Amino acid sequence: MANEQNHSGTELCLDAEHFHVDGRLQHIAFIMDGNGRWAKKRGMPREYGHSVGVKTFEKVIRYCGDIGIKVVTVYAFSTENWKRPEVEVKAIMKLFSDYLDIARKKAEENNLHVCFLGDQGIFPENVRNRMQALEQETRKYPLTLNIAVNYGGRDEIVHAVNTLIAEGKTTITEDDISTHLYTSHCPPPDLIVRTGAEQRLSNFLLWQAAYAEFYFCETLWPDMGDAEVRAACADFYGRKRRFGGV
Ligand code: FPP
Repeated sequence: MANEQNHSGTELCLDAEHFHVDGRLQHIAFIMDGNGRWAKKRGMPREYGHSVGVKTFEKVIRYCGDIGIKVVTVYAFSTENWKRPEVEVKAIMKLFSDYLDIARKKAEENNLHVCFLGDQGIFPENVRNRMQALEQETRKYPLTLNIAVNYGGRDEIVHAVNTLIAEGKTTITEDDISTHLYTSHCPPPDLIVRTGAEQRLSNFLLWQAAYAEFYFCETLWPDMGDAEVRAACADFYGRKRRFGGV
């Protein structure tokens, strides 16, 4: 077992074999579900749940870095989430925009190359510019944080195929698709964690999830913490991954 200090100074007791040595668990993706229910249980508007959800997101990202996870992906806003009430959509977009203002500092503190997955065309120019600048300015950092925003798995595959057609391809391979997805810069997720007691993918990383392990928990996203992340990782290491072999 290796003992390490996390950012808050508390000692972590990590199983080196699991978390550091062979890098098997490189990429965790989170479906951050349950913000609305968490707020309702407290008699608060759903938007409040999302604002607490951003704080949880920051804590979880930091913890994943502390335990040696190289890539973290979060599902912040789907192509279908625009159907939510305007007040909620506006609140999430405001949280996202506020995060862009502080993201460079956070990325520096946590060694994160911040990348965005999804169709950015829908965002106002000033938001797009800030997203692109952040991606460029944080390229030097070794860990990757993918934020899926205006993201849909089906939309992503269609986008990849259309790009290939525009490039003149008449037949395509799996590799062609993989290298034209928004995630072409990183390995596919080893583990997909969904909080909030639902057990579905909701159009998240459809192509990349082909051999991912899944971990579903009842914890609502604002209550997600180090212990549940550890439980998910431990669960992952109890699985036998065969990738279609025996
Ligand atoms: C799912 O919970 C959560 C979302 C659709 C939005 C999550 C967005 C954030 C945490 C803010 C994004 C910003 C950054 C910077 C990452 P839900 O609303 O579906 O919860 P419910 O199932 O309880 O209704």
